[in-house]
Amino acid sequence: MKIISTASEMTNYSDAIKGEGGELGFIPTMGALHEGHLSLVAQAKRENTQVVVSIFVNPTQFNNSADLEKYPRTFEKDAEMLRLKNVDVMFYPSISEVYPNHNNLEYEMDGLDKNMEGPNRPGHFNGVVQVVTRLFDLVKPNHAYFGEKDFQQLAIIRHMSSKLKNGVKIIGCETIRSETGLALSSRNTLLTESGLQIASKIYSSLMFAQRQFANGGLASQVLVQTTAILNNIEGLELEYLEFVNPSSLQKYSDTESEIQACVAAHIEGVRLIDNMRVK
Ligand code: PAF
Repeated sequence: MKIISTASEMTNYSDAIKGEGGELGFIPTMGALHEGHLSLVAQAKRENTQVVVSIFVNPTQFNNSADLEKYPRTFEKDAEMLRLKNVDVMFYPSISEVYPNHNNLEYEMDGLDKNMEGPNRPGHFNGVVQVVTRLFDLVKPNHAYFGEKDFQQLAIIRHMSSKLKNGVKIIGCETIRSETGLALSSRNTLLTESGLQIASKIYSSLMFAQRQFANGGLASQVLVQTTAILNNIEGLELEYLEFVNPSSLQKYSDTESEIQACVAAHIEGVRLIDNMRVK
């Protein structure tokens, strides 16, 4: 596996592969890799001639400096995991390689950032769109892979990628869960055993909502019931539970035929998100 740390080397590499008619699959990450990332790698390997994984903890998407500081960084372990999966390139740039110039572009996300993570993490999606756009410019992939765990992020990246016409096909991949149902996340490594047990109750709460809908429950009632369940979990502080239309991300109506439940919660000071198609 090649480790590239400069923007120019990355672009030259990509140009050479594409010049030979190859297809590049790209997985942008912030490191602290887990099985969820590796499932994206496996899919990218099946669908491309070369796979590039970037590891860059992007400061512009953190609205809270303590969160940025404590974000797990496990370079050696990440490199080993990618090597074992025969990834072709690990792109590991510094902040100055990614942002050589001060860029304070404001992206218009056409309403997709107006609820859930948007108001709770001001500036977060602007930073995500900024870094993804920049990484796409450097890596020039044909396909880019993102997990559905970050449901709103995926919807925004899909929308912005087609709006900015960068020619990259965005591929969403299913959330990978632990045996207890907990959605795999780099942040899980910050939890104790007991925190992990509490966190798995997010999944059982979402499953509860799904069962209520299967039994004909009304969205407004299921929302109240599921919120109460989450609020009663000791050690879990609920930030939001929202039911939205999975395409528009707008707040549900009782007549909606499809509903995505999205949740953010804090456990042991760690912020976790999850989501599920409940209807
Ligand atoms: O999902 C993530 O890990 C990050 O938001 C991403 C897409 C790598 C951008 O920094």
